[in-house]
Amino acid sequence: MNIRQYKYSDRSGVEKVQFETGFIGKSMAELISIPHMWNEKIYYYLDKESKNILVLEDKGEIVGYALGCFQGTRRDVVLPTIKYSILNIFRLIFLPEKDKIFWKGKIKAYLKIITGISSERSFKLPKGAAHLHINLLPEARGGGLGSKLLKRLFSNAKSKGVDRIYACSYCTSLNPNDNFWFKNGFSEFSKVRTMFWVDQYPDENIDLVCYLKDL
Ligand SMILES: CC(C)(COP(=O)(O)OP(=O)(O)OC[C@H]1O[C@@H](n2cnc3c(N)ncnc32)[C@H](O)[C@@H]1OP(=O)(O)O)[C@@H](O)C(=O)NCCC(=O)NCCS
Repeated sequence: MNIRQYKYSDRSGVEKVQFETGFIGKSMAELISIPHMWNEKIYYYLDKESKNILVLEDKGEIVGYALGCFQGTRRDVVLPTIKYSILNIFRLIFLPEKDKIFWKGKIKAYLKIITGISSERSFKLPKGAAHLHINLLPEARGGGLGSKLLKRLFSNAKSKGVDRIYACSYCTSLNPNDNFWFKNGFSEFSKVRTMFWVDQYPDENIDLVCYLKDL
């Protein structure tokens, strides 16, 4: 396995990992059949901060990534997500039944957040800190590669003047990754109960956690 800088030809590989890990570490294929609507979440990083992406490669295949947001503001990341969510309302009629059910649920979840019905509205993120996303395909997990990817990303971030970095993750027994963050020097900054996956897991307590680290 090889950790290296992202290049443009890695785009479809990174999108594949995004899709195959999006359902709390599992494949989104269980829930939807059109990948690009889910992958739009990471277009900001691919389009605007591709220099801050690292990939994990195995025999020419992308099996993991770490996406850094070192220069963008929260607004830069959130605005495209809002734009795509609004677009999704209009796309609904064209979608296969399975995707329609999923996206209707997510639109409702976003509305609950915006109107304050869901407690995620009170979720706090550290001001002025960089952030990251990291995901590995199941076969690449548990062998220290995620921690190695983080270390490389931290050193890239530091060289660009970043002194604090955060990551948000779902904390649930379905994908118990909280120790990964603590082991890598993060501490918990904020936590809220999330309703985002309530259609899929109505009986599961899932928290959205923000982990923060000084570099
Ligand atoms: C979280 C993730 C990036 C960690 O990368 P990794 O290479 O598996 O992690 P490492 O091998 O470097 O570190 C493993 C540590 O993380 C913890 N951990 C990570 N995933 C875990 C899991 N599913 N179950 C239990 N422990 C887990 C363990 O504490 C483990 O430490 P230990 O081996 O000393 O017990 C990777 O497992 C992954 O992509 N998971 C699915 C998606 C995800 O949770 N992404 C996080 C952001 S949303």
